[in-house]
Amino acid sequence: MTPIHQYDVLIFGSGAAGLTLALKLEPHFKIAVISKGPLNEGCTRYAQGGISAVLDPSDSIDSHVLDTLNAGGALCKEDVVRYVAEHSKEQIQWLTDLGVPFTREQENNTQHAYHLTREGGHSHRRVIHCKDATGSALSNTLIKSVKQRPNIQLFEHHIAIDLISNTKLNISPQRVLGAYILNKQTGNTEVFQARAVVLATGGASKVYLYTTNPDVSTGDGIAMAWRAGCRVANMEFIQFHPTCLYHPQAKSFLISEMMRGEGGRLLLPDGTRFMEKIDPRAELAPRDIVARAIDHEMKRLGVDCVYIDISFKSSDFVRSHFPTIYERCLTYGFDITKEPVPVVPAAHYTCGGIITDLNGRTDIDRLYAVGETAWTGMHGANRMASNSLLECLVFGAAAAHDINSHLDQTEPFASLLDWDESRVINSDEEIVVAHNWDELRRFMWDYVGIVRTNKRLERAMRRINLLSREIFEYYSNFRITNDLIELRNLVEVAELIIRSAMARKESRGLHYTLDDPMVKANIPPQDTILVPPNYLETPH
Ligand code: FAD
Ligand code: SIN
Repeated sequence: MTPIHQYDVLIFGSGAAGLTLALKLEPHFKIAVISKGPLNEGCTRYAQGGISAVLDPSDSIDSHVLDTLNAGGALCKEDVVRYVAEHSKEQIQWLTDLGVPFTREQENNTQHAYHLTREGGHSHRRVIHCKDATGSALSNTLIKSVKQRPNIQLFEHHIAIDLISNTKLNISPQRVLGAYILNKQTGNTEVFQARAVVLATGGASKVYLYTTNPDVSTGDGIAMAWRAGCRVANMEFIQFHPTCLYHPQAKSFLISEMMRGEGGRLLLPDGTRFMEKIDPRAELAPRDIVARAIDHEMKRLGVDCVYIDISFKSSDFVRSHFPTIYERCLTYGFDITKEPVPVVPAAHYTCGGIITDLNGRTDIDRLYAVGETAWTGMHGANRMASNSLLECLVFGAAAAHDINSHLDQTEPFASLLDWDESRVINSDEEIVVAHNWDELRRFMWDYVGIVRTNKRLERAMRRINLLSREIFEYYSNFRITNDLIELRNLVEVAELIIRSAMARKESRGLHYTLDDPMVKANIPPQDTILVPPNYLETPH
């Protein structure tokens, strides 16, 4: 018998998006928060730069909106960007009230207003932060707060396999009913029924060989929503962060864009600057431009990395602004107060995702998506720095408000089918999963990376077709494991990325192809919307 759990709201993801939403739901709802690893393992915890918000009196909502639109390659939805920017101040106030220790200006040992830093694309100092470890402070505070709520139950080391909906019955509106979840501690699959389900499962950057993201970023939410019948948008826009530390032992350690915001310079191996020649904003150009410039210089010179230098600032300045980066780099033998450090671009952020409206609703009734897994229209073809955590907070709050207004606690739960394991056996060939996982991430890096061509995309698609068949067979015959669930999702998401990239016959924002290196100026900018075979139009 499959164990069955019943909740009002089932939330997948314990990052900024999932926990904000959980904390803003009515206290009389019975809520489950599920995370596939420890609660704090997700991108949120690793965020460095901070959260963009209009807090300085000389800044304005219009300016935040304009900067975001400029970075987004004419594909941001202006109403969404404005909605998010307008709600930034209240979300920061909420976090401050919860106890997030944002850094303040220091003068003569007295504390002043909050310190605001700068990052690429922002025309003002607009990024509120906790030194250079904003995500860790944010994550700790949110986790501490949810642990104090008796109506929220936390399930760590539980991984969602698939959503359960009435899709197979072909009834409109399609409705989500719950999910199948693998309890990684017992190895059992359990059924969670719910009146509303939220996907806050983060991005998919693990589909690439080199990434700033932790292992959990395997696009599970996007893949599950797609299989259940939700449309996805703009999956070709994968953001590569320009400056990931280049060192064999430094798995995905980021050198924050704050460093360039505070004057850090990018250098070639011979010590010359190169960004000034490429964009008037030099090191503070939006990320797509900086990452492409680095990629170009590395290929042109045949070098493994470029360098970032902040050592011309005083040692006190560097250590007080970048304590985490300073300490971490020292462990790899680099003293950032004295020397430049080697950096390379790495996959960082999934701009596309599950299509949602301003309330976080997806195409399926009662299924919400918030945070990096969602596509709200906020980021367009290239996300501006520090707009992601802000989007998590604003949409977490918006979706909570929508659920609070519509959820009916008296509605009976539908009866659901048990998870059927009667025809599967334990795998005797785990190597297949490990091998396919590596192969996928390598060809995605080589063929679907910063610079693309039609030929490379076609090559990647041929490999995806092979892998999909192999994984489907494996999935149908063997008992599932965490790695198999993630691989199945990664392949699904990789296919969506490639299909979207193939559909865009131009270069725009983060999608750059040598076959069409210019923006198509003669037609209005268009989103790439993919529609799953089982999509049913739902009147909201
Ligand atoms: P995450 O924080 O990634 O959380 C995902 C959650 O989903 C995890 O709890 C995970 O366990 C759970 N999950 C996933 N799949 C499943 C499943 N199948 N079953 C159960 N649970 C599942 N953005 C900014 O705005 N400012 C910054 O300064 C900044 N710095 C960054 C630095 C780094 C190194 C990185 C990697 C990203 C940074 N970003 C930054 C981006 C930002 O951190 C993320 O976009 C944001 O934190 C995403 O939050 P989230 O809640 O959507 O997902
Ligand atoms: C960084 O600190 O460079 C990351 C900021 C972001 O991804 O928004």
